[in-house]
Amino acid sequence: MTRTVYVNGVFVDESEARVSIFDRGFLFADGIYEVVAVMDGKLIDFDGHMSRLRRSLRAIGIPESMTEDELLAVIRQLVGVNKLDEGLVYMEITRGVADRDFVYARDLEPSVVMFSQVKSLVENQATREGVRLKSVEDLRWARRDIKSVGLLAQVLAKQTARDAGAYEALMIKDGHVTEGGSSSAYIIKDGVVITHPLTNDILPGITRASLLKLVKANEISLDERTFTLEEAYAADEAFITAASTYVCPVVAIDDRPIGDGMVGPVVRKLQQVYIDHARDTAV
Ligand code: PDD
Repeated sequence: MTRTVYVNGVFVDESEARVSIFDRGFLFADGIYEVVAVMDGKLIDFDGHMSRLRRSLRAIGIPESMTEDELLAVIRQLVGVNKLDEGLVYMEITRGVADRDFVYARDLEPSVVMFSQVKSLVENQATREGVRLKSVEDLRWARRDIKSVGLLAQVLAKQTARDAGAYEALMIKDGHVTEGGSSSAYIIKDGVVITHPLTNDILPGITRASLLKLVKANEISLDERTFTLEEAYAADEAFITAASTYVCPVVAIDDRPIGDGMVGPVVRKLQQVYIDHARDTAV
């Protein structure tokens, strides 16, 4: 399959897309990214992803070279020309191109790259049957709240998980769960949804933000606090969320079944509630 992608102001066939070897994204992972889900050709939680994009840019001092309307126009064109019905749009903005030097000039023109990916998000084996997680040490830097393209720790964590037959890594810092390798993590105990509070230790998930509003609206108890891996093993239910998985049930962690090892009722309900929200608010 050949796609049309966007590179620095132009739409080109993916085989012709080029980025400089001097791009600071390539040399230093000096850039940020976003991943937005597409359902029925429409964008899910788009405003949230745009505000996090701006927040990430501000956090590392990259100027906003495109307005939200301009970004939206590019995304719509990518979805349109690639006839994307269900999947993801990836956006990356780096500080730009310059001869290699850790220190950067403030007047660099940011590089902007976007492409679409076909992916079945609503209905697949993971969302239907639930997934297994493998715990791994969280080796990331201290600003996990920035959606940085410096993802080596997550690459290694997720590969370790996959090699062990798990779908996703569950990252552990000082005995406590921070989040998934590329997802927010939750447990449910005695009817209470428990998830790590928003600090620099986790990415502020956009799916998380929407889901927690839905949890409250459905009068399900919520506790934003840290929890240990031992608590996760003993949970009644567990799940992860991300633009790339929506609400995905977790049925085992480190080969220990969660609850009875089947997808539980609260997670099933939240899955449906989130999909309904996504359909209703897609743009
Ligand atoms: N990752 N935590 C981490 C470390 C993530 O990388 C992600 C998303 C999330 C969930 O955030 P959101 O709900 O906004 O997608 C949490 C994306 C999907 C990725 O890197 O592909």
